[in-house]
Amino acid sequence: MEFLVKSGSPEKQRTACLIVGVYETGKLSESATAIDLVSEGHLSNIIKKGDHNGKVGHTLVLHHVPRVNAERVMLVGCGKEKELTEQQYRKIISKTVSALNETGANEVVCYLPELRIKNRETAWKVGRAALIAIESVYRFDTLKSQKDETPRALRKLTWMVPSRVDLEPAEEAVREARATGSGVNLARDLGNMPGNICTPTYLAEQGKSLANQYKVIKTKILDESDMEKLGMGALLCVSKGSSEPAKLIIMDYRAGKQGDKPIVLVGKGLTFDSGGISIKPAPAMDEMKYDMCGGASIIGTLKAIAELGLPLNVIGLVPTSENMPDGAANKPGDIVTSLSGQTIEILNTDAEGRLILCDTLTYAERFDPEVVIDVATLTGACVVALGKYASGLFCNHPPLARDLEQAADTSGDRVWEMPIWDDYQEQLKSNFADMANVGGREAGAITAACFLARFTKKFRWAHLDVAGTAWNSGSDKGSTGRPVPLLTQYLIDRAKQKAVA
Ligand code: BES
Ligand code: MN
Ligand code: ZN
Repeated sequence: MEFLVKSGSPEKQRTACLIVGVYETGKLSESATAIDLVSEGHLSNIIKKGDHNGKVGHTLVLHHVPRVNAERVMLVGCGKEKELTEQQYRKIISKTVSALNETGANEVVCYLPELRIKNRETAWKVGRAALIAIESVYRFDTLKSQKDETPRALRKLTWMVPSRVDLEPAEEAVREARATGSGVNLARDLGNMPGNICTPTYLAEQGKSLANQYKVIKTKILDESDMEKLGMGALLCVSKGSSEPAKLIIMDYRAGKQGDKPIVLVGKGLTFDSGGISIKPAPAMDEMKYDMCGGASIIGTLKAIAELGLPLNVIGLVPTSENMPDGAANKPGDIVTSLSGQTIEILNTDAEGRLILCDTLTYAERFDPEVVIDVATLTGACVVALGKYASGLFCNHPPLARDLEQAADTSGDRVWEMPIWDDYQEQLKSNFADMANVGGREAGAITAACFLARFTKKFRWAHLDVAGTAWNSGSDKGSTGRPVPLLTQYLIDRAKQKAVA
């Protein structure tokens, strides 16, 4: 989909469809008012007759509106003018894009960025709308033999801004949204790909293919023998029960100054998590193909920043493995030695994410990182705590947590901070090793983070538990691409901060 940014009067736009807002009170948005004036009350008549209630996301397509150059005018409900929230704005844009796919218009001009949202500028509204549009047209049908074609898929979307001074910042916002969108789409594709295709080896190929597409990225893959030599006993034990070998994907993005310390991003890449010998119950077990969404989000984020050419140094690390039960698999009670030298008693083979992550986090030390951020579908407990709206944020350095919260606020890819107090470490005590890999029923998301905290003492670190946010279940089952928008925004913010420093 192509995006343009323009400013100008609505009645003059030559387009297949002009998109304007109406509120619940029947009040028209500014652009709708302009159309109403030139058409001598065409819109207000329709609203008076009760054909549009102004409810959020309700759409109505009008043909032949008098003295308007556009072939169609789409009225979009915007709810209560004074209370327009960012969540409603999301719904308005996404409903508009879906409704457009039902029309014959493949090129449209949209005035919705004129809607007022508290504390948000035009550029933000345009950027947000562009990303939502990309997300709304996403389909994963590569594995369907019959694809449902939209008759005239939306090809070009022009965002209208109130004045010419808005053009440049809005265009920049569109550029960022486009790059973020291609990262999100990649992460979603990888997440939705089934476990029999998206294996650790496949994921490693994806990492290499990024390096082929972008010169600033160099990818290296560590195989099991490399990891053995390093002493990654925790990472390696997870794949013992699987016929797919584990890999560690190392993607090195160097577009910053030579001396700039890298930001290291780590993502859990379990291409299928059966639970292992501590096997999971059958219902919804298919969704454990999404257990690599953390890793996919790192690959997607690197794609996004490479498209933007952000002047930063970023390292992406994705440990990838399957967790399966067989005669060679981990058994409850087994004890392994991690790369850090600390020993771990595996009381539950289903707590495997922290095992592949802890060695990768220790490995991150060698890059002398500015900060390390890991992303993982780590615990069902996090889904219980926060549901699907916020990712759990855990952090050992408050300024880093504030930066991530700021990026979450800008991108709408929300996080909520949870504690990693030492008190919780008690729960990880083992009678036979330095620690157990599980901490009991209470505070499961926190004890998982506290486990990782034992491996991140040497640097500034944040952990994002995306178990509830990385994919949707039920009838709209599918990967969301989160937290690519959050991570990309965080990196855009860092690049801008560097530019002014
Ligand atoms: N990948 C799962 C976490 C998960 C479960 C994410 C369900 C989303 C939905 C992880 O490897 C896991 O199995 N965690 C266990 C930890 C427990 C054994 C301490 C869990 O959450 O049950
Ligand atoms: Mn598990
Ligand atoms: Zn898992």
